[in-house]
Amino acid sequence: MKIDITICLGSSCFSRGNKQTVQIIKNYLKTNQLEDKVLFHGNHCYGNCENGPILKVDGKEFQNILPENTIYLLDSIFKKD
Ligand code: FES
Repeated sequence: MKIDITICLGSSCFSRGNKQTVQIIKNYLKTNQLEDKVLFHGNHCYGNCENGPILKVDGKEFQNILPENTIYLLDSIFKKD
């Protein structure tokens, strides 16, 4: 089953970093040949803007995601072993 990554594209999260984070994730999936294993898509506001930017991985919510921390988070998901 594919890993489901959803990024909040609501205006608050989008303007505070998710605009760049979308590109970082896309590049990461491509570089690491993960595009077939991951369903990556955007979502509208989760109603949790104050803890944003928000990213969800298989329904688990990650808060305060910053573009500069995204690679670290992705590595922790995909490079466990
Ligand atoms: S814009 Fe992302 S939670 Fe509201």
